Amino acid sequence: MSQDNQHLVRVGLLGIGTVGGGTFTVLQRNQEEIRRRAGCGIAITMVADLNVERAKQVVGDHAEVVADARQLIANPNIDVVVELIGGYGIAKTLVMEAIAAGKHVVTANKALLAVHGTEIFAAARAKGVIVAFEAAVAGGIPIIKALREGLTANHIEWVAGIINGTTNFILSEMRDKGLDFDVVLKEAQRLGYAEADPTFDIEGVDAAHKATLLSAIAFGIPVQFDKAYVEGITKLSAADIKYAGQLGYRIKLLGIARRQASGIELRVHPTLVPQRRLIANVEGAMNAVMVQGDAVGTTMYYGKGAGSEPTASAVVADLVDIARLIDAPTDTHVPPLAFQHDSMSAAPILPIEEVVTSFYLRLRVADQTGVLAKITGILAEQNISIDAVIQREADEVSGEDGNQTDLIILTHDTKEGRMNTAIAAMQALPTVLAPIVRLRKEELA
Ligand code: HSE
Repeated sequence: MSQDNQHLVRVGLLGIGTVGGGTFTVLQRNQEEIRRRAGCGIAITMVADLNVERAKQVVGDHAEVVADARQLIANPNIDVVVELIGGYGIAKTLVMEAIAAGKHVVTANKALLAVHGTEIFAAARAKGVIVAFEAAVAGGIPIIKALREGLTANHIEWVAGIINGTTNFILSEMRDKGLDFDVVLKEAQRLGYAEADPTFDIEGVDAAHKATLLSAIAFGIPVQFDKAYVEGITKLSAADIKYAGQLGYRIKLLGIARRQASGIELRVHPTLVPQRRLIANVEGAMNAVMVQGDAVGTTMYYGKGAGSEPTASAVVADLVDIARLIDAPTDTHVPPLAFQHDSMSAAPILPIEEVVTSFYLRLRVADQTGVLAKITGILAEQNISIDAVIQREADEVSGEDGNQTDLIILTHDTKEGRMNTAIAAMQALPTVLAPIVRLRKEELA
């Protein structure tokens, strides 16, 4: 097909729920501007959805609606298949079949690509088709485009992002209202901000899928979700959010990919961030990603990470990219992971014990002479340097039992393995009365 204004790129949608409906609406509403940008028209001409009636209500007579996805994939008139089913199951089968049928693929499916990306990208390369996935990370924020193309001059040092809106909403509410996790989660579910089964969000899995994709594009490594360190927000207490605030920090669930001399850190966990950083002030369901490049310095990208039209904005951007390249030789395609497939790096993903960060520790201790000295002695033995210590008044902590207090310690950077050894030794002290809370801290400077 040549790129001229009379031509049409014909798109088949697999699934027309929230994002599919938004994609249809945006393509319709902005069709003239999209045509002027793409150099040809782009239209959804076929939809496959098990709920045929609902799909027909969305697309009217603009597109053929079928229940059978394979009928869509087999249609020789479809140029691009947009997969919006989600998950690793049937979505994977259909994406592989679409590639085998010579269709370009656009997907918002971060889980699928983080786990099976290597196989999918290899199949696409062999077939000479594009697999585009801007919508898979941070919804409407064009972070894939920024990292893969806009920052391509840079040696990327790290990427750190709030890439899950559900958990950022919950953390914002916990801080604003001083409430514990369980209470806020129930409220978020009642308001529709959190799904009925929020496991992937609150356990950090969704963010880890996205961080895996970001790490691959930033460093030219294969997607390796299985090696990511994943810790969610379910164990966070209102007390730690409050103490962090008193020390000048906010707690955010960050997805982090960082280059070290010996390999790549890939991790998701609640993180103390200085409250003066822009990213610490990203509240509610909003997303933001920071990228540190050697040439550009620190950059930040902010916007809606989910929702119908914000995610559709990313899907349509991929469709326009494909429309522009549809007749181009495959060696002019931008590689899906930014680096040429024969120039990928073998740098290993580091085990969490090798990760270097600073820490926030909270210890419930007996309020006795010498307790602090023992604790600081253990940290010194592990060569862990202390940045700050605060001690809460006993009555703030233990109500009727005035013999306990909370010690909060901020450390300088250390390897996590050393911190594990120190925590085990501190936990064994008879004067340490409860499990030690350990949170990681990033200055993001
Ligand atoms: N559930 C995700 C979030 C959006 O809460 O950000 C889709 O990845």
